[in-house]
Amino acid sequence: MSGGSESVSIKVVITKDYWEMSRLAARIIADVIRSKPNIVLGLATGGTPEGCYRELVRMHKEEGLDFSQVITFNLDEYVGLPLDHPQSYHHYMDVHLFNHVNIKRENIHIPDGTAEDLEKHCREYEEAIKKAGGIDLQLLGIGRNGHIGFNEPGSPFNSRTRVVKLTETTRRDNARFFGSLDEVPTHAITMGLATIMEARKILLLASGLNKAEAVAKAVEGPKTPDVPASILQDHPDCTFIIDREAASKLKGRYEKTFSDER
Ligand code: GLP
Repeated sequence: MSGGSESVSIKVVITKDYWEMSRLAARIIADVIRSKPNIVLGLATGGTPEGCYRELVRMHKEEGLDFSQVITFNLDEYVGLPLDHPQSYHHYMDVHLFNHVNIKRENIHIPDGTAEDLEKHCREYEEAIKKAGGIDLQLLGIGRNGHIGFNEPGSPFNSRTRVVKLTETTRRDNARFFGSLDEVPTHAITMGLATIMEARKILLLASGLNKAEAVAKAVEGPKTPDVPASILQDHPDCTFIIDREAASKLKGRYEKTFSDER
C-alpha cells in the first residue's frame, strides 16, 4: 500500500426479480426509519421505485411503520409542469407514497419547477437540505444513459441543485408517461452529483435488461461524467440493489439473494 486514498467500490446485491428488489429496498429503508425516526430521506421517482413505495405503504398500514418524523427531499422535478399535473413528480409522490402514510406535509421537500426565480429556488433547496442536517439515505434509480436524478451525461461531478436541459434519450424514455414526446418538458431541476454524493448512504435500484448496460458501466466502467452514475464508485456507502436482468452485463461476482438452482 502506498498510503494513497483508500479505493471504495459499489456494493452490488442481485435479486431474483423486480419484486424481490423492491421488498429488499423497502426493508432497508424501514430499518433506518425505525432506528432513526427523524431520518432525512432523499427520494426518487420513475417506474423503478414504485414497488418499493408500495411495500413501504404496506408496512405503514400493516406494521405501523411511522413516518411522522421523517423528512424527505426529492431528487428532481420537471420545469414548467403545474404541481398537480399528472406527470409532475409532486403528483407522483402523493400517489405512490405521501397520500398513504403519516408523513407531515411540512416535512416534504420537492423542487418546484414552477418557481418564478428558478436559480434562487435551487440555492434555497440546497440550503434546506443543509439545514435539515444533510440526507441520511438517498434512494436512486438510473437512466439508460447512466443518469442519476436528471444529471445527464456530461454533468460535472461538482454540480449542485440546478436547472438542466433533458437529453432526447431521456425525453423519449419518459414519453411513455405522457401523451406524446412533445408534451415531455425540455428542462428539469435536479440535485447535483455533488449534492447526491453528500448523502450518508445511497441505495440505487435498477430492474430489467434495458438498464444492464448503464449498471455495468456505472459499477465496472471508468469513472467519467459521460456516465454520471459512475461517480458513485467514490461513495463510501453505496449499494446497488438490482434484479438479475439489470445485472446481466456485469462481469464480476456479486452477492445474490437467490440460489442459481432451478
Ligand atoms: C427519470 C428520473 C430518474 C429515474 C430515471 C429512471 O428520468 N429523473 O430519477 O431514476 O429516469 O426512470 P425509470 O425508473 O422509470 O426507468
